Amino acid sequence: MSEKTEKGEKNKRVGTGVEGLDPLIQNGFLPGKSYVVTGDAGTGKTTACLQFLLKGLTSGEKAVYVTVDERPTDLLDSAASLGWDLQSFVQDKNLVILDAAPYFSTRAGPVKEREVDVQRIVTDLASHITRMEAKRLAIDPVGPLIKADTPSGRSEEQARLLIRLLQTQLQTTNMLSSGRTEDESSSVEEFLAAGVLSLRMFRQSDRFVRTLWIKKMRGTAVVPTEYEFNITKGKGIVLLSPYIESAAAVQPAAENGHRPPQTNGSAPTVEDSGSILQPFEPEKASK
Ligand SMILES: Nc1ncnc2c1ncn2[C@@H]1O[C@H](COP(=O)(O)OP(=O)(O)OP(=O)(O)O)[C@@H](O)[C@H]1O
Ligand SMILES: [Mg+2]
Repeated sequence: MSEKTEKGEKNKRVGTGVEGLDPLIQNGFLPGKSYVVTGDAGTGKTTACLQFLLKGLTSGEKAVYVTVDERPTDLLDSAASLGWDLQSFVQDKNLVILDAAPYFSTRAGPVKEREVDVQRIVTDLASHITRMEAKRLAIDPVGPLIKADTPSGRSEEQARLLIRLLQTQLQTTNMLSSGRTEDESSSVEEFLAAGVLSLRMFRQSDRFVRTLWIKKMRGTAVVPTEYEFNITKGKGIVLLSPYIESAAAVQPAAENGHRPPQTNGSAPTVEDSGSILQPFEPEKASK
């Protein structure tokens, strides 16, 4: 493969599977990066994750879905209700659904032992992904993997480690779903991800409106706009026109809180070379 073709492949955008979204973000996600789809309960996060994987599966790619809150059979049922036959992709070994629930339910015990072993999770994931040469990964939801069930407040460290390991140890493009934080501010994973799609559902006069806001898309020219969308059988999320706010509309998205990530001073040690900050060497950078 010529150097030019290789570079072209590396920069080729990854289609999101959401009808109407790709043209708004320069044809899709950047390959190998992690994207967060965030929103309150029932706003469409799982639907977006399914669409993202199906876009790859129907083009002959392989994919991994990590489910935490929903059992794999329930996920298959949800997909079926949207008109998608995930089961056939599983049977053909093009899709692997990994159930993370047992990992969490067996973590009873002393507080220290209840911390999530992010490195172990990513190593597990990497073995599946490498074996099947998967190109796409969804983790739905990512919260339990990074919010340690301990009083030590390590969730930001855990999130940073997870995103870094996903980037360095996996070849996949990743969609991570994330619930809304209590104060509506951006979650840690939103700051760390390459992009954020924010979903909302609210009442406007006599109807409910679903909207998608491209909140962040690194390396991509995006006009900040909130789009209405529908969820329809066979298609999932379908973007419609930009949402025009009327006097009856709820709080504008811009009023959502915005806070920088807080550090507690202890950075995760990924490379131990005696020096904390590593000088960037372009010739060694692989991605
Ligand atoms: N066949 C369908 N046609 C239209 N809408 C559907 C269909 N199936 C599901 N939906 C709608 O899609 C909504 C979003 O579901 P989804 O599971 O993607 O949300 P979610 O954000 O993942 O929710 P949760 O917070 O519970 O994980 C459902 O609440 C339902 O109203
Ligand atoms: Mg869900």
